[in-house]
Amino acid sequence: MEIYYNKILLKEKIAEWKAEGKKIGFVPTMGFLHQGHKKLIDESNKYNDVTVVSIFVNPAQFNNESDFINYPKNEESDLEICRLSEVDAVYMPDKEDIYDNGKIPDLQMKIPHLTKSLCATARPGHFEGVLLVISVLFHIVEPTNAYFGKKDYQQYLLIKEFVKYTNFNLVVNVVNTVRDEDGLALSSRNARLTYEQRTFAKNIPIAFQKVQEYLKTGGRNIQAVKRIFITTAITSDKLKLDYLEILDAKTLSSVPEVRGVVLIACAIFFGEVRLIDNIIVRV
Ligand code: PAF
Repeated sequence: MEIYYNKILLKEKIAEWKAEGKKIGFVPTMGFLHQGHKKLIDESNKYNDVTVVSIFVNPAQFNNESDFINYPKNEESDLEICRLSEVDAVYMPDKEDIYDNGKIPDLQMKIPHLTKSLCATARPGHFEGVLLVISVLFHIVEPTNAYFGKKDYQQYLLIKEFVKYTNFNLVVNVVNTVRDEDGLALSSRNARLTYEQRTFAKNIPIAFQKVQEYLKTGGRNIQAVKRIFITTAITSDKLKLDYLEILDAKTLSSVPEVRGVVLIACAIFFGEVRLIDNIIVRV
């Protein structure tokens, strides 16, 4: 496994691989890797000749300075996970290697029809920052396939649409969320939860489970789904619901009732730590 800190050297390697006709799988990350990332890497290894992982905590996508500063890091363990997962190249740039002079460029890409809900409205500027870094990374890595987790479902939809509009020659793939034994979706931010907050957090998958049970009995009412979810997941005044939205899973537009392919997504604050999760139901 090779580690690249510099895009010029990485691009040379990529050009070599391309000349050999190799398929390049790409897993962009912000580090603090866990089994969810490992699953993205495994998918990439399965369908490509080589896998590149990038590790870069992108300042442009944080709308909250303290979230950026406290974003967990562990370079050593990240590299170990990559090594064990048979990654071919890890790209660990600094800000200067990604953005000219290390300054976040004054360039905003927006996809309005997919950003009227969920994290787009809860975290203004977040997805503009994601699209910015993703376009820089795609230009450097020129992947055949790129892999994203379903936990960040809106991010996946946006990147897919972005790739379609901008003619990047690659396929955007989504991979199922990996969960802890008690069902909590794996996230690098879980490491920041206190013991008590972690106990509260396990109610998120239980709440989704209860919603699914309600839907199985033929229930379709949005307000009922919201009530079931909130009473199960928000069990303490120490938790704050950022959003709970029920939307058409393809278009992210609102739906009058739970029917068809529907995304049920939440964001909840556990103190300063904000966790997101979702399920997609077909009813
Ligand atoms: O999902 C993430 O970790 C980030 O948003 C991404 C896609 C690596 C861009 O910084």
